[in-house]
Amino acid sequence: MRDALDNPFSPGSDTVPAVWAGRTEQLSDWRDIVRPRRLSGLPERGRTVLGEPGLGKSTLVRRIAEEARAAGDWVTPQLRIPSGADPLKLVAGAVLKLAEQAGLAASREKRIGEAIARVQTVAAAGISLTIRKADGPEPYAALTELLIEVGIAAISHGHVLALIHIDEIQNIDNEKALSQLLIALGDALTHEVEVTVPGGAQVTRSLPIAVYLTGLPDFEDMAGARKGATFARRFKTTTLTAIDDLDLAEALQEFVLEGWKVPDGAGSTARIRMDPEAAALIVDLCRGEPFLFQLAGEQAWYAGEGETITAAEVRNGWRGAQREATAHVERILERLPSRERQFVETMAALPPVERNLTRIAQQMGLANATAAGPTSQRLDTTRGIIDRGRPYTFRHRAVEAYLSSDWPKL
Ligand SMILES: Nc1ncnc2c1ncn2[C@@H]1O[C@H](COP(=O)(O)OP(=O)(O)OP(=O)(O)O)[C@@H](O)[C@H]1O
Ligand SMILES: [Mg+2]
Repeated sequence: MRDALDNPFSPGSDTVPAVWAGRTEQLSDWRDIVRPRRLSGLPERGRTVLGEPGLGKSTLVRRIAEEARAAGDWVTPQLRIPSGADPLKLVAGAVLKLAEQAGLAASREKRIGEAIARVQTVAAAGISLTIRKADGPEPYAALTELLIEVGIAAISHGHVLALIHIDEIQNIDNEKALSQLLIALGDALTHEVEVTVPGGAQVTRSLPIAVYLTGLPDFEDMAGARKGATFARRFKTTTLTAIDDLDLAEALQEFVLEGWKVPDGAGSTARIRMDPEAAALIVDLCRGEPFLFQLAGEQAWYAGEGETITAAEVRNGWRGAQREATAHVERILERLPSRERQFVETMAALPPVERNLTRIAQQMGLANATAAGPTSQRLDTTRGIIDRGRPYTFRHRAVEAYLSSDWPKL
């Protein structure tokens, strides 16, 4: 009981955490909008989920992918783009696997065989195909073509959807590769085919394909002109922010009410409970950061052996986690361009009621409020770190706590 094997908290792992909190809007967007609409042939844009490190972008789409897989959908693994890698190779490889899953590899149709062969070339050569000006279509066209075949196969299979998840998209530093990739995915999403409905009428429909792109907000700026208006029309972007305290509290409620089931070592199960004060303390300490939520929970779990996790144990556990919590926030601050960092530091130093653009600009030594305008806009709309209300407030509550209090110290 309460050991490493049964600890349900999982900071930083590549799994869907057992103790899940919030993100209901994004999950129902998938369940109620994206999947049903694409399945029934209605147009629906791809989704781009951006956010500062550790906000749960990869985990969110991993969970969506898990649900899709359970529903019988054809799902690519999470395609994580390493920095400097050729994304076309990676995605081509994944599309080939989808084609296999769709049974296309066994198809005797010439058209399909050729489409597969072309994507195999892309999987081997990637973007260099375009540079070499090889004969035949550009890599993106080959990808689109095979995706369309996968989509058509999904229609005839009935009630399945092909789901593609590309992670760490900010790492695509080759503009040409990025634009090819976005066009390939976008073209497949907007492609329409003619189908015969019961009664014999011909109607056009979209393909049952869904695309999720996840990564850091820096993707927003990248290749801005390249991805351009077409991208914006074909993908809907959401920026994740901190998880609500209410959602975090709800996630811990199972510990508080019934206790979390663990094997008791004697072939049966026991339950680990949590004092309400302990749960409240975890919620308070993590400031809406899912990573810190998992960390605080994990450390509290290890901090004692009893059947009930106490507030004292949460405190003790957190002491051991403070350095990591600090490192987490520092990583976020260090990534900010200096102007943005100066902005949040200045804002945090002001009393909350004085946090407005004029005051912040003044404190930053700028001539006027307008000079700080673009910076504040980026911190709000692109990064989701601040909220430009009246007064300005922090949406990234861990950043605020770190800059304006002793947090993460107890
Ligand atoms: N909805 C959630 N409920 C509880 N824990 C979560 C949730 N989402 C993410 N986590 C936890 O938060 C941590 C960070 O999640 P994740 O790696 O998905 O973040 P990310 O936004 O992809 O970060 P990065 O930008 O560094 O890739 C993980 O330990 C994960 O288990
Ligand atoms: Mg991630």
